Amino acid sequence: MRTQVAIIGAGPAGLLLAQLLHLRGIDSVVLEIKSRHYIEHRVRAGVLEYQTVDILNAAGVGERMMREGLRHTGVELRFAGRGHRIDFGALTGHGLTIYGQQEVVKDLVAARVASARPLHFEVTDVSVHGADTDAPEVRFREQGGSQTVLQCDFIAGCDGFHGVCRSSIPESVQRVFERVYPFAWLGILADVPPASDELIYANHELGFALLSMRSPTISRLYLQCAPDESLEEWPDERIWSELATRLSTREGFDLPMGPILQKGVTPMRSFVVEPMQYGRLFLAGDSAHIVPPTGAKGMNSAVADVYVLSDALGHYYGCATGAARMDKLNSYSARCLRRIWKVQRFSWWVTTLLHRSEADNDFDRRRQLAELDYLTTSPAAALTFAENYVGLPMG
Ligand code: FAD
Ligand code: PHB
Repeated sequence: MRTQVAIIGAGPAGLLLAQLLHLRGIDSVVLEIKSRHYIEHRVRAGVLEYQTVDILNAAGVGERMMREGLRHTGVELRFAGRGHRIDFGALTGHGLTIYGQQEVVKDLVAARVASARPLHFEVTDVSVHGADTDAPEVRFREQGGSQTVLQCDFIAGCDGFHGVCRSSIPESVQRVFERVYPFAWLGILADVPPASDELIYANHELGFALLSMRSPTISRLYLQCAPDESLEEWPDERIWSELATRLSTREGFDLPMGPILQKGVTPMRSFVVEPMQYGRLFLAGDSAHIVPPTGAKGMNSAVADVYVLSDALGHYYGCATGAARMDKLNSYSARCLRRIWKVQRFSWWVTTLLHRSEADNDFDRRRQLAELDYLTTSPAAALTFAENYVGLPMG
């Protein structure tokens, strides 16, 4: 089997890259270890930056997102019992769109199927070979089948944090930067209308809470918890009561409760591997970097990477011959990392601003409150927050 670009992983990064390459007439094969049903129902991120929306629209997969997505022009920061709105629209001229990651994935899978280009689900034994040569290949097995060798020009490692691509790069040529946080998020999806029209990020003595949503009838809420938290210790009533306390205000805030459809614990980590290229293997999305979800940047960063990668691959296949063909591909890693480090900085900062840590003392608490006070009273500070939240320039 032969293709131009072998794409490992059918998350937002792999599927969007496949679609962007398809629109440029570039062949690819997408390999995914999970089933179609699994990836289309995995509840994860929900906030799309305006440029992510623009890219999905330009890729021809935005029609349902524009119909069903919720457009917001600000968020609320809640602390010391009071809410303070940050008006992104007024500050930056941009907003955000709430549309679940699994909906983006469904739209991208539908586009891939319509393109009639290959997308293999439930493959096993995926391995990368010869990435540092001019003839790389990916080996894998179809369900219960014999081994297939996929020869290609390039490999896109879009297989998430636990995939095989990053670990197939020799440790001697990669540098890892990492911070693991002493807390996690307990997230729920609930069959109840959201208690607010916009997202609420709450800093509370008991820990962080976030009110988000997926539709006018479905809420998505998160609570800071311990990284090793057992869901058995969190019956539904305890989750609702803790959320109500952490989101409470002096004037009183009514948090309607409803049936919990899904719950899970997400660990919090900042992680970057440099460089994002090894020969003809290019890492994109979570395979190269992870952020704590407080800044809502995970999926948006995956989109930013593949936007740059598709441009670089387009340049390669659009050029006749010569060494210059590789120029954009060889600067892919540096182009992405410049943005990624700013996104890392923002995600780390907003996480430390809003969470309680056992290592924090009374000084840290006062510092957090002073920073939140500054952020919600200084137009300069609010603008800094807003421009990072709505999204730094892509590519
Ligand atoms: P992924 O979405 O992880 O896709 C990688 C794909 O590769 C997967 O489908 C996987 O099955 C597949 N794969 C793995 N190994 C192989 C292999 N060997 N061969 C073939 N395929 C393979 N971000 C936010 O902004 N907000 C959130 O609330 C939020 N919640 C999250 C909750 C969880 C549990 C996780 C794990 C992440 C969350 N994120 C969140 C982050 C966000 O979802 C990711 O940044 C985003 O999914 C990155 O997309 P990706 O395509 O790079 O990786
Ligand atoms: C979500 O809706 O899942 C969500 C929203 C904002 C975040 C993280 C997750 O910062």
